[in-house]
Amino acid sequence: MTLRYHLVIKGGTLCTPGGPIVADVGIREGRIAAIGALGADAHAAEVIDATGLHVLPGIIDAQVHFREPGFPHKEDLASGTAAAVLGGVTAVLEMPNTDPPTTSAHAMADKVARLRDRARCDVGFFVGATPDNASELDELEVLPGCAGVKVFMGSSTGSLLVADDEALAAVFAHGVRRVAVHAEDEARLIERKPIATAAADPRAHPEWRDAETALRATWRAVALARRFGRRVHVLHVTSADECELLATAKDIATFEIPPQHLTLAAPDCYQALGTRAQMNPPIRDAHHQAALWASIASGACDMLATDHAPHTLEEKARTYPASPSGMPGVQTFLPIMLDHVAAGRLSLARLIDLMSAGPARVWGLAAKGRLAVGFDGDLTLVDLAAKRTIRAADGASRCGWTPFEGREVTGWPIATIVRGHVVMRDGQLIGDAIGRPLRFVETLAAVAPP
Ligand code: DOR
Repeated sequence: MTLRYHLVIKGGTLCTPGGPIVADVGIREGRIAAIGALGADAHAAEVIDATGLHVLPGIIDAQVHFREPGFPHKEDLASGTAAAVLGGVTAVLEMPNTDPPTTSAHAMADKVARLRDRARCDVGFFVGATPDNASELDELEVLPGCAGVKVFMGSSTGSLLVADDEALAAVFAHGVRRVAVHAEDEARLIERKPIATAAADPRAHPEWRDAETALRATWRAVALARRFGRRVHVLHVTSADECELLATAKDIATFEIPPQHLTLAAPDCYQALGTRAQMNPPIRDAHHQAALWASIASGACDMLATDHAPHTLEEKARTYPASPSGMPGVQTFLPIMLDHVAAGRLSLARLIDLMSAGPARVWGLAAKGRLAVGFDGDLTLVDLAAKRTIRAADGASRCGWTPFEGREVTGWPIATIVRGHVVMRDGQLIGDAIGRPLRFVETLAAVAPP
């Protein structure tokens, strides 16, 4: 008997582009080969009974900091991707503020090489723009595994920064792929830093790095995109003002919202979590949070991403603002958002749009983001009714904590499948680290076929 499929998932509710259907899905050689009632024909090496579960296209977190090379005490590619698949995430895009930063062809090749036998999901890497490497970006952005160019317009963790208009113009003038921007205005950050220093309290964080700081940089990024005819993606949008601006720029700009900003709000989060709630751009008040949800509801927001940015509790214990900004999120991404689905704040279809199809479209991830024949066999099986409690003790992140400790949620990932490999089931990591560099539709010619 010849095997028709390597893996068959039977009887789940498949979240297909045409809507939910109860059916089977067969995966052969890493790709979705059939959807329907596979019946007795379904000779398979492995069969998963998904009765009662929803089968989602693999969840993608397009903004994570996995700290390798440079900061293995916070995270590395092995621990970060383990956290990802435990949380139902099948692919991630990793940020360049490592040590050394990913600002050269050598650093990019080094990161890609580090994936082998260590990554549990597929990974792409952003190359970091600097005031000195702009003229090389045309060549850097097409390297295998490269997701595109990331620009820190304002200082955050690490030394990457391109703040002035001339240097930013040089970045936008080189290359053709969508540019990712961390939009906080550096001049205003410097001017207002005394607010943070004087307060010595993380409650001042959204006042120092205020909504105007974010709006000014986002406005400049959109203006540069128009001037150079270059697509731009605004990372972690956090304010009502940016949502309003970006809803007028859908022809050239995409944007993402972090789940933390949809879930936590000032001042309570700073009261409860102290510096653990400190991230850049900051978590803001209920007014801004309502605008973020409105942008989810209106369809203007393209995608969600966590900005998973682990720091140890010891580092977080420094007196604000010496405490580093950032919090882990990749493992809690899906549980937190499924809980919002259970609470009626968004539909499951919109969750998939924001957390799978959206990132695949924005970043041109080849064969990802769609539960459909021919696409990669990346699937996330979820139990929408499961009630669980989020615990850092169940997490794989090296940082050892979560801002959502003790939170009860409804909805939980039960299995994670990457290109037909079952890599997580019932909270257990399974098998070898089979993660590979992601392939991008705009640069496929430069990358060996799978
Ligand atoms: O809060 C943040 N932490 N925002 C960033 O932009 C960087 C990140 C980090 O790398 O720690």
